[in-house]
Amino acid sequence: MTPLEHYPVVDLGPIMKGMAIGGLGIFHVFLAQFAIGGGMLLCYLQWLHMRGRCRLARRFIDDYFKVLVLVSFVLGAVTGVAMWFTSIQVSPRTIGVMVREFHWVWATEWSFFCLEVVAGYLFFRFGPRLPDASRLQLLGLYSFASWMSLFWINGILSWQLTPGGWIESRDVWQGFFNPGFLPSLLFRTICSAAIASLAACVLINLVPGFTRRERESLVAICGRPLVLMLAMPLVGAWYFGSMPADSRGWVTGGSVPMTMFLTMAVGASALIGLYAIFGILRKQLYVNAATAGLLLSLAFVATAGGEFVREGVRKPFTIREYLYSNSVARDGIAELRQRGVTADDPYPLRDEAAYPSEQLVLGGKVFRAQCSVCHTLGGVNSVIELTGSWSLEQKRLNIAQLQQTKPFMPPFAGTPEELEALVQLIGWIDAGRPDAWEESSDPAVLAEIRRWIDEAGTRPGHASLAAATGDRRR
Ligand code: HEC
Repeated sequence: MTPLEHYPVVDLGPIMKGMAIGGLGIFHVFLAQFAIGGGMLLCYLQWLHMRGRCRLARRFIDDYFKVLVLVSFVLGAVTGVAMWFTSIQVSPRTIGVMVREFHWVWATEWSFFCLEVVAGYLFFRFGPRLPDASRLQLLGLYSFASWMSLFWINGILSWQLTPGGWIESRDVWQGFFNPGFLPSLLFRTICSAAIASLAACVLINLVPGFTRRERESLVAICGRPLVLMLAMPLVGAWYFGSMPADSRGWVTGGSVPMTMFLTMAVGASALIGLYAIFGILRKQLYVNAATAGLLLSLAFVATAGGEFVREGVRKPFTIREYLYSNSVARDGIAELRQRGVTADDPYPLRDEAAYPSEQLVLGGKVFRAQCSVCHTLGGVNSVIELTGSWSLEQKRLNIAQLQQTKPFMPPFAGTPEELEALVQLIGWIDAGRPDAWEESSDPAVLAEIRRWIDEAGTRPGHASLAAATGDRRR
């Protein structure tokens, strides 16, 4: 595997690239899970109706399905395409590896998605006129297809975090049925059921024509799948246990934001679960539009927190133990430290003419290749601000030993000259981009940087270091 591949560059300015994917991903996951859970809920309602156990079901199904189709076909599909679009811009190499390794798995996932769309459209168009048995079959097909698309995509997503035996064997099925596959599939299935139930509670209050008593009985029925949330702590713990120990380290104190996001996800899920079990299921409380809306928003918060953590604990990798977040291959660090990370970079910088020296242009390219997925030069998570209080010497040392400075960063993957260029770039921008900037090429400085880089080694940092890093800086 080559240490680095160059793709056309997108510069999002003050917006952190990783955040652009994350922000979209949260919406997409939430909508997709709603679509999956919704299909299962509607099957259940149709079955109750055929058993004569819920006479309102048929009418509600048709109302709910309209919303489901609208949300999943329009918003779900648009955010899905947007996800592909942004991730190909931000991390083309990761997507490239995913497509290369799982070509037929993607194709299978896509086929199920097509089946879901066809079944969904048929039900939308003809459902109201069909006999009950055909309605159940069509709804069954719709929810089977949508759950199967989760099944296939889940293997690829969980592989990114826990590639398991694939790292050694490169075997597709070992990668697909990786250690995180089953717990994350179960966990997402439960989330889907819960989101669909809560969305039903909102909708029951919004569609006109039901009396208060009818609404009460529908809430009681549609709330039933929420009982699955009882299994969440157990399945969640299993999922958590399947993660590598150093990934777990992030959320157990290694990274404050990550720990906070996990707490947010767990807290929001616990609140929903408690209200669902004690309020809706045991006390049969009526859930009005405001309460249902609030619960659904909490579910969104839980999804957002959970997705943030899932993406976050993979750091510094996008594919664990294989590809770093900045698209440098794990095994390519040593080579790039000799050859230089910018050696084959064919792309100019934006506004290259505005840089007063070649060295600063080089610094800009080093930043773009190695840091720009997670940092900006003056926006979110800006390296200018993060290094604001550091001396020149501290900048050199802490960047040379990047994986020890903060273990969620990859090791530095360039030559001492490139590192010095990056340090000079940071200083130049910090000084307000003056028209002239002296070149820095003292051989003693470069030799010292080389020594620091070698000292840091090529291994990734470790989460257990994270808590202790605050005071290791010189
Ligand atoms: C995988 C994502 C990622 C990559 C790639 C990355 N960083 Fe970071 N970096 C982070 C995160 C997250 C933080 C923590 C920010 C905070 O503490 O607010 C951080 C912190 C820092 C800090 C502050 C450290 C401290 O102790 O306060 C500096 C300086 C820094 N990064 C520089 C760089 C440079 C230079 C590069 C490229 C050579 C780079 N980073 C690449 C994610 C990354």
